[in-house]
Parts: sequence; C-alpha cells; structure tokens
Amino acid sequence: MSINEKLKQIGEEAKKTISIVDTIHDLNNEKARYLGKKGLMAEFMKMMKDATIEEKKEIGKASNEVKQLITKLLDERKEYIENKKVEEKLASESLDVTLPGKISNVGVRHILNQVTEELEDLFIGMGYIIQEGPEIEIDEFNFEKLNLPKDHPARDMQDSFYISDELLLRTHTSPVQVRTMLEYGGKEAIKIVCPGKVYRRDDDDATHSHQFMQFEALVVDKMTTLSDLKGTLLEFAKKLFGDDRSIRLRPSYFPFTEPSMEVDVSCSKCGGSGCNMCKGTGWIEVLGAGMVNNNVLELCGYDSKIYQGFALGMGVERIAMLKYGIDDIRHFYTNDLRFLKQFK
Ligand code: DAH
Repeated sequence: MSINEKLKQIGEEAKKTISIVDTIHDLNNEKARYLGKKGLMAEFMKMMKDATIEEKKEIGKASNEVKQLITKLLDERKEYIENKKVEEKLASESLDVTLPGKISNVGVRHILNQVTEELEDLFIGMGYIIQEGPEIEIDEFNFEKLNLPKDHPARDMQDSFYISDELLLRTHTSPVQVRTMLEYGGKEAIKIVCPGKVYRRDDDDATHSHQFMQFEALVVDKMTTLSDLKGTLLEFAKKLFGDDRSIRLRPSYFPFTEPSMEVDVSCSKCGGSGCNMCKGTGWIEVLGAGMVNNNVLELCGYDSKIYQGFALGMGVERIAMLKYGIDDIRHFYTNDLRFLKQFK
C-alpha cells in the first residue's frame, strides 16, 4: 500500500468511527486514537523517518491535510453531540400548557370570623375603634372592677376556669372595658368594641359551649344617655338583621350596668307575627346592655358625676345562629367541612 493510500485509509476510517461517537468522553478517546502522541498519525509519521527530504515534504503536506480533516470531523461531531444534549434537555423539561391544571382546595374564612368582621365593620362605621385584651385575665379586671367583688353572688352567673386564686380564663370580654378605662386615665372619652374568645365552665350542649366568642361595645363620654344606647341598638339591629327590624328593651340585671336590659329584636323570619324561630313571641333575645354602673366608672378612674357610659355585649355564636338558622352551637367547633363550606 502506498503512503498516500495509507493516509487516505486513516482519513476514511476516521470518518466512519467519529461519525458514530455519542459522548464527549468517547470523542476524546477518538481524538487521542488519531491525533495523540501515541495515536495513529504519530505512528504513521514514525514510519516515515527513513524517507528522503523530498518525500517528507510531500508526506508532511498530505498528512497535515488528513490531520485537518480529522480535527474538522472531531469539531463537527462535538458540536453535534452538544446540540443534541441541549435538545434532549429542552424536550425533557418542556411544559404542556394544554394539560388540565390541579384544582387547589381553597378554604373559607370561619363563619364566626366572618360574623365578627361584619360586627366590627358595622361599629367602625359608627365611629368605634377595636380594642383587644388577653384571654388569661386577672380576677380584678374580670370581676372586681366590674362591680363584682369576691363572693358576690352574681359571680355564679359565670362559672369560671381559674388558673390560680387571681388568674382565670376570662369569662367575658368586659375586662377589656376595664383595661381601656384605666389606660385612658379617667380623662378621655371612649368609644370601643371588643371582640374575642371567652371561657366558661359549662357543659357543652346545643346552646352552651365552654369556649365561645363575645362582641362588646363601650361608650364613655360627658353627655351619654340611654337614648344614645337605644339609637345604637336599633341601628345595629337594622344593619345586621334587616331594615324593617325593631327592638324591645326588657329590664334585667348585670352588676356592671345600671339600669341593665335584655335587648330583643323583632323576629326576622316572621317579622313579628310569631313563628317557630321566635317560639311564637315575635321577638328574639339578642344581647345584654345597660348604662355603665357608676361603681364601675369610679373603680376604673372616671368621675361618675362628669362621665356616663353605655355598654352592650353579645355572643357571636348566637348572632350567627340567628342570622343563618344554625340549630346547634357545637357545629362551630367540630370543624365539619360540610358545615363550614356553606359560608363561602
Ligand atoms: N358581660 C356580659 C356577659 O358575658 C354581657 C354584657 C351584658 C356585656 C351587658 C355588657 C353589658 O357590656 O352592658 O354575660
């Protein structure tokens, strides 16, 4: 075989072997096999060591051409392998935007939070601000400063969870009234609402829960009268239960208000003619209210000769039950999604 034929053979072989290489690693092996120090081209050059100068010139030129050819083949193959890699990556990561999406399960705000927010909005609209307090309260604020000294019989109205002699889970939101009056220092007018959780040692049944929510309002100012309270209650009843509602005040007793009253709203189901919801009376008891007892004002730093106030307090569960026809308070706390999801 002539030298040129031998070179041509190497070139042909390179075309075949390089064109089937699939990885950069194998390609580097091919490069070493042809162009490396101990590669085919180097071997070939060694064989030529006895040739004449004229021959060497010719062989050198021809072998350079073969080396260039092999280099070109290697470069092209390298580019091909790299492009293929990118394409494969793109194909494996491609998104099918026509695939149907997963429907995520969005929850709903708890109905008690929704009703609390509605109450807040209603009172904020009348110029009140929201005030909150701790759920673990001291006896002094939960009872004593609300005109319920130790051993007062009316403490029995609110069976309590005591943590120590002086600490308890608050039985109502009224201690927030005390905290606010003390904070305002007996000088400024007050117009607040206090939403929050309260606790009582009750046995749970359809209308009782050992934990429930209250919503309370307090106004203290220099010219506050029972008419202001009545106007506020009527506005509240209309906004919450419908424009054609009326209210009825019945004398009652709370240690922290004097006079105290139970507030009824005309039945929203029958409009007052009597039905099963209002037990035939046409009226539904909704909340307690009254003029702030002078003792409470004094105990909380307000001069009762200058300041008067009114307060009202309600159970949020009761409001929600009346508004949505819910028959059992336990529904709010058993977290049955079928119940909760109704209030989207
Ligand atoms: N704190 C009372 C209770 O839990 C509710 C209440 C009644 C609050 C009359 C008041 C009020 O502020 O004036 O039974």
